Amino acid sequence: TGMFTYDPGFTSTASCDSSITFIDGDEGVLMHRGYKIEDLASKCTFMEVCYLLLHGELPTAEQLAKFDHDITYHTMLHEQMVNFYRGFRRDSHPMAIMVGVVGALSAFYHDSTDITDPYQRMVAQHRLIAKMPTIAAWAYKYSIGQPFMYPRNDLNYAENFLQMTFAVPAEDYKVNPVLARAMDRIFILHADHEQNASTSTVRIAGSSGANPFACIAAGIASLWGPAHGGANEAVLQMLQEIGHKDRIPEFIKRAKDKDDPFRLMGFGHRVYKNYDPRAKVMQQSCHEVLDELGKRDEPLLALAMELERIALEDDYFAEKKLFPNVDFYSGIILQAMGFPTSMFTVLFALARTVGWVAQWTEMIEDPGHRISRPRQLYTGYTEREFVPIDRR
Ligand code: CMC
Repeated sequence: TGMFTYDPGFTSTASCDSSITFIDGDEGVLMHRGYKIEDLASKCTFMEVCYLLLHGELPTAEQLAKFDHDITYHTMLHEQMVNFYRGFRRDSHPMAIMVGVVGALSAFYHDSTDITDPYQRMVAQHRLIAKMPTIAAWAYKYSIGQPFMYPRNDLNYAENFLQMTFAVPAEDYKVNPVLARAMDRIFILHADHEQNASTSTVRIAGSSGANPFACIAAGIASLWGPAHGGANEAVLQMLQEIGHKDRIPEFIKRAKDKDDPFRLMGFGHRVYKNYDPRAKVMQQSCHEVLDELGKRDEPLLALAMELERIALEDDYFAEKKLFPNVDFYSGIILQAMGFPTSMFTVLFALARTVGWVAQWTEMIEDPGHRISRPRQLYTGYTEREFVPIDRR
């Protein structure tokens, strides 16, 4: 027994020290290693942000070139993985494939099981960041029955991912630089978010000393749910269901109704009690992408903006401090870029991998870290007399 605090949902429990990401939820501030997300999203590439999250400092040009090389070196998947993909039903949800394939990497990289070796930890970091776009693109290709495209290391991270997703072998595919930049920015906006459910899952799984690939697979599983990374997919489904701005009030009413399980997807956050700074950048990016694609009049964007306006004027949302979060606008951009809704959470997982890996490494390297072992309040029976089966 002994004293402990009852805190379901961990609303007031700090589980670790961390110097990676800072959030001020009341002010709507997000910083990585002291740099504001707005600056990183507008002035950096995703590779620079990855380096920053892993190493604590922005890279010099030389450090970035070396890091970029280390990542591109690992972009291929073992050819045997093709067989693993083939084992899935052809209409599998790509998130199901992600959980499986990333978990299976633990069987391919036994060397990573020695997490006490800093070199092995670094290789595991690089492998995960490098292979995730390949794994994600192949999950998509498999689901639509197209041949897998191999990584192209002459392209940057986002360009290569778009190529593996949208190119087909016999056709000449040119990456649109505006879309590649938007993709890169979406990756930056999702890169890390301190001790959220999936990151805590990775830390808890890793606290026992488990293989890092298996730990990241656990994080992907946690991210999948609609209350977390699955919200981007749910937002688009919700907007499609609403269909027309005349029906917004009806859905706002449902969201406020205690007896109706419906929630406004892409709204509200455990930590942000103000506008999510990522949602602002995302909204701006959304306009840029739709302009580029000649889809300025995309009805879903108009609907989303109107929904946001009405919700923000509503007393219920004001009192509960519910604002748009990162997932509110991302789906509209991704859909315009040609991704099916089932891929939205996959993209989140791809981008969040660096955060998971950085947090996992920070934990392993923290000399004070111990296995995570929450306690409980037991509400079951006290001791009872055993009853043999013929007397029950
Ligand atoms: N629509 C309507 N009411 C809401 C919503 C919403 N989206 N979010 C919270 N509320 C209400 C909720 O009913 C509760 O009311 P009351 O105090 O009267 O019981 C109050 O606001 C607090 O909500 P909570 O569920 O106790 O808050 P939480 O911190 O446990 O949950 C959340 C946070 C993000 C799960 C929740 O706001 C939610 O379900 N939002 C919709 C899903 C979503 O957009 N998720 C993405 C989160 S951001 C990125 C990510 O993590 O992937």
